Amino acid sequence: MQDLVDLVRYPLDQPNSKSWSALVQCCQADLTRDGMFNLPGFFRRTAMDQAVAHLVQLLSKNAFVHARRHNIYFKKSIEGLPEDHPALTEFETSNRTICADQMDQSTILRLYEWPQFARFLAAVMEKDVLHTMDDPLARVNVMGYSQGQALNWHFDRSEFTTTLLLQAPESGGAFEYYKDLRSDTDPNYEGVAQLLTDRLAPKQMPLEAGTLNIFKGKNTAHRVTPVSGNRDRIIAVFSFYERSGFQFSDEERMGFYGRVS
Ligand SMILES: [Fe+2]
Repeated sequence: MQDLVDLVRYPLDQPNSKSWSALVQCCQADLTRDGMFNLPGFFRRTAMDQAVAHLVQLLSKNAFVHARRHNIYFKKSIEGLPEDHPALTEFETSNRTICADQMDQSTILRLYEWPQFARFLAAVMEKDVLHTMDDPLARVNVMGYSQGQALNWHFDRSEFTTTLLLQAPESGGAFEYYKDLRSDTDPNYEGVAQLLTDRLAPKQMPLEAGTLNIFKGKNTAHRVTPVSGNRDRIIAVFSFYERSGFQFSDEERMGFYGRVS
C-alpha cells in the first residue's frame, strides 16, 4: 500500500500505534469542529497519475451520463411545504459516472479493499466496524465533471461520505457547504430557502488532488460549483456501511448508473 498511500504521514498500516491513535483523534476533532476532515497528500502523486490516465479513458468512452433536476432533498415534495416554496427550488446536476465493475484491478479498488482503510474510518467515525459494499456497481464510483457540469445543492442520505479527489479542474468545481443548516429535529426550511436564494453565504473548501475527504452531509447542505476549463474534476467515492453485504436496489442502480448489472 506504500506505493499508493503516504503511510509515513498517515500510518493507517499501524492500527492502535501511538501515531495512528493521534491521527484518529485529530480527525475526530476536525469532524466535530468542521463536519469534515481532510488528509492532503494522502494518495501518492505517481499512483494518482496512473489512476487518472486510466480513468480519463473510461470516462470518455464508457461512462454513464448522470444528469437530472432535483431539489436539495432529492424528493418530489415535502409534507407541509407548498410546491412553490423556495426551499424546493430545483437545480441541475450532471456528471459522468464509472462503476466499480468497470475499473478492473485499479489502484482505487485496491485502496477500497485494503482492510486497514475501513478500520481507520471506523475508528474515526466511532463505529465498531465498517464494511465494504457487496454491490458490484456502487462499491466505488468515479465521477468526472466537465466544463459546465456540477453537483448541485443537496443533503446526503448517508451519515458520512468518503471521497478522494484525483484531479482538480482548471477553475470552478469548488466544494461549498453550510454546516448544520438543519438538524434531525429542525428542518429549518427558512434557512434552506435563504441559502438557495443566496441570502446565506456558504463556506468554500479548496481541495487539492490526492486529498482524502470524509464529510458528514446529512444536515450540512453542500454542492460542487460548475467546472470550467478543459480539465475535468475527477473524484472517487468509496461506500462503507455498518452492516455487511449491503447492496443498492435495482431501482437505485437504474437511477444512479442507468443499468442494474
Ligand atoms: Fe453529498
